[in-house]
Amino acid sequence: MKHQIKVELPYFDHLLDALQEPNDDLEKSFGRHVHWGYWEHPNLATLSPDDFAEAAENLSIEVCHAAEINDNKKILDVGCGFGGTIAYLNENFNKLELLGLNLDDRQLRRAVDKVRPTAANKIQFQQGNACALPFPDNSFDVLLAVECIFHFPDREIFFQEALRVLKPGGHLALSDFVPTTAFLPITKLKLPSPFGRGFYGQCNVQCSSEGYRKLAKKTGFNIKIEKNISRNTLPTYSYLRTMGMKEGYKSISAAIETLIVEVVSRTGLLKYLILCFQKPM
Ligand SMILES: C[S@@+](CC[C@H](N)C(=O)[O-])C[C@H]1O[C@@H](n2cnc3c(N)ncnc32)[C@H](O)[C@@H]1O
Repeated sequence: MKHQIKVELPYFDHLLDALQEPNDDLEKSFGRHVHWGYWEHPNLATLSPDDFAEAAENLSIEVCHAAEINDNKKILDVGCGFGGTIAYLNENFNKLELLGLNLDDRQLRRAVDKVRPTAANKIQFQQGNACALPFPDNSFDVLLAVECIFHFPDREIFFQEALRVLKPGGHLALSDFVPTTAFLPITKLKLPSPFGRGFYGQCNVQCSSEGYRKLAKKTGFNIKIEKNISRNTLPTYSYLRTMGMKEGYKSISAAIETLIVEVVSRTGLLKYLILCFQKPM
């Protein structure tokens, strides 16, 4: 069944267009993962496309590590983009049942094209909405949501759905931009167009650490991990600037929105967190 909800993400429209043309640097940077990078030693970032590709892979690895993934698991990657995290799992684990879910068919077509299962794993990509998961109760050992929850229509409904489809003891691991308590009221201000719904589309970065704790309690999850990796992601901004100058910014809003996120991230007002929650046994 198709879901009526549509996601408007100009940055993906741009990427899908640009990836049609041969472009090695873009392919390495955003052809597999579409998220920020993770550098264990940010001061050693070289900011080459290969360096960024490795950092983007490392971010997926960090989220998967938080979820305690090992062989023989059934895993749902919600908001799977081009399937980069599924590709990583497929290349590094065995006997996995991997399912990638996304609202956007175009992204899924690319994922199907790029990610081929190894003999021991099963992979499926499916269209659907994170807030109305098209799966029966108690279906998965692990749910992943890498850098996408801020696009979902409602965090609480997503958490309820995640709890429903996870098996008892299962893990939900995600990464998100999380405001400090002091910055939280500012994130709730309505910005004038084009900043309200610009290059990055509708983004809700209004869930603080305290908000996540309350959400876990309300929906019935236990919180297992809250890891602040902000400093490990900071070279992403220099890289995006380099890419923007090389490729040409798609819009003024792309440059301005990225700069705003950079400033609030560098000043510590907006944190980049990896969180892991467990469904009780
Ligand atoms: C920043 S991208 C991250 C993609 C992927 N997780 C990655 O790390 O490469 C955000 C993703 O969330 C997806 N998305 C947004 N809203 C969604 C929803 N309600 N249900 C499912 N996917 C959604 C977008 O289509 C996009 O693929």
